[in-house]
Amino acid sequence: MITELSHVSIVVPDLEAAARLLSAKYGLEVGARMENAEQGVRLACVELGNGRIELMEPSRPDSPVSKFLERNPKGGIHHVCLGVDDVAKTVRAFGENGVRVLGEGEPQHNVAGAPIAFIHPSDFLGALVELEQHKA
Ligand code: CO
Repeated sequence: MITELSHVSIVVPDLEAAARLLSAKYGLEVGARMENAEQGVRLACVELGNGRIELMEPSRPDSPVSKFLERNPKGGIHHVCLGVDDVAKTVRAFGENGVRVLGEGEPQHNVAGAPIAFIHPSDFLGALVELEQHKA
């Protein structure tokens, strides 16, 4: 079951430049730089109380995010993330409604180690949607 909006994720060509811009122009504080080797991204978040903005840059040339930057060299919104109580159960339940998940069968994790999954954009109004497991 979907319980909340977790974050909006923006792919940027340069994480440090993006952090400087958000700080200088908007007074936003970008948190600790992290790396998710599994997803091939370096990332950092702006915590906003009721949600986060996630900034991602590729950490290796074959990162899925590298392909996004080839199509959108200046970066752009990459996905919206919805919090769920149980990713596996939610994926099974949505699957019964015909919803497809990217890379099905391979468990994926966010930088904190929580289970995640990505819904096929064709099954969510053209938007890439991440599901992230939040402890109840
Ligand atoms: Co995300």
